[in-house]
Amino acid sequence: MKKKKKNQKKKLWGSRFSKPTHELVESFTESLSVDSQLALFDIAGSRAHVKMLGKCKILSQKEAKTLLGGLDKVEKDFLSGKWKPNPKLEDIHMNIETYLTKLVGEVGGKVHSARSRNDQVATATRLFLRHEVVSIILLIERVQSVLVKLAESYYGVVFSGYTHLQQAQPILFSHHLLAYVSMLDRDKSRFEDILERTDVLPLGAGAMAGTSLPIDREYVAKLLKFSKVSENSMDTVADRDDLIETASACAILGMHFSRMSEELVLWTSSEFNYIELDESFCTGSSIMPQKMNPDVAELTRGKTGRLYGNLMTLLTIMKGLPLAYNRDMQEDKGPIMDSIATVKAILEIFEQMMQGLKVNHDEVHLKLNDFALATDLAEYLVKKGMPFRQAHGVIGGLVSSTLLERKQLRDLTSADLKQASKLFGKEAKDLLSFRTSVEGKASLGGTSPKEVKKMISVWKKRLSKNKGKYNGKCLSGKK
Ligand code: ARG
Repeated sequence: MKKKKKNQKKKLWGSRFSKPTHELVESFTESLSVDSQLALFDIAGSRAHVKMLGKCKILSQKEAKTLLGGLDKVEKDFLSGKWKPNPKLEDIHMNIETYLTKLVGEVGGKVHSARSRNDQVATATRLFLRHEVVSIILLIERVQSVLVKLAESYYGVVFSGYTHLQQAQPILFSHHLLAYVSMLDRDKSRFEDILERTDVLPLGAGAMAGTSLPIDREYVAKLLKFSKVSENSMDTVADRDDLIETASACAILGMHFSRMSEELVLWTSSEFNYIELDESFCTGSSIMPQKMNPDVAELTRGKTGRLYGNLMTLLTIMKGLPLAYNRDMQEDKGPIMDSIATVKAILEIFEQMMQGLKVNHDEVHLKLNDFALATDLAEYLVKKGMPFRQAHGVIGGLVSSTLLERKQLRDLTSADLKQASKLFGKEAKDLLSFRTSVEGKASLGGTSPKEVKKMISVWKKRLSKNKGKYNGKCLSGKK
């Protein structure tokens, strides 16, 4: 009995209980295995809270000082590994308070004045999230820079453009790369939106109703670098939109990388043989000695499934939960931390891997299909005044008769063209070149070398302008 009582006493909420917690319940309810990642953010939140309690005279100056010193020591011992949190104490938040109290004595219990674990968890998670979102944005920019550099070094190289995975029209390889730079820019702006919307302090909402103690939430917000304070205490502790939005932005980013990966897998296959990846980013087969597999790309495609799954998990956890906090919400951390870690790993490896990508010019050229120039012939007729639908029909007929004769478009003579439509002049034959085709696509956002060159320099400017934009924007976990 004595032992049981002692077991319960160790728990911060233990006094109401006469029986010890079943050990299965302890392991079932603990979240330390995932939330110890929040340690430094939780300590940062507690520091600001204690400073505010001191300022508002809820704590004496001496008490505040003792608690701040204690929190420093908790941080130090956590980082050095001298102190190891205990899963029996449920989560990182309870662990920190317990260890703090062990270090500073009874006054440690005062750190939780005017605070609940509900607003404490929301705050630590939000600080963590904002810190990670900034890292993701910076990593996105790094991958963008690599792609822009690659686009610059392959400037002028003609590549095959596809629709339905059938050769469609010739393009510049750089144009293809810059398509991904645009996608990544939308990803980045989604993460920037998240920073904007999460710029709100949760702490001070209490368990759900606020507190009767005279706190100063605006002061805490300032210390933690939030520009706003949440407006409804119930919404504050019941809200996980920030995590869901982040998981969604991660899923979309994953989808983009998964598409890029699919292209890398196709293009490195011997059937295409358009590109080569650096050997150090490929792996071999344990049985087939000739194999060099694009595993990084394949795994990125696979990991994107996890990113979608995490988003679904979070949405499903929150669906149907009555206000305000419910313990279900503890299940939010695993999926969001996994999404963040997965996205960071993808960005880090692509930054490195894409630098070593090589295009096999000859192979691409060999496989470029003349029929990809058919639209250029149709547009020629449109320029001569023929309605597009009619031009489409004329060139369709020409393609079909050329195919029947087992010829290529480039085998056609001026006379053949003239026969298809008398609008074809002598110069029409010159259209039958991939380079001319690409050069003709001078519309805004098209693949002409002039447009692509302009976009390379636009991206270079944009990317250099952003340097340093996020320095000090969010509080990092550390002091
Ligand atoms: N580890 C928990 C979580 O992440 C802490 C919150 C517990 N709150 C409570 N009222 N029991 O959600």
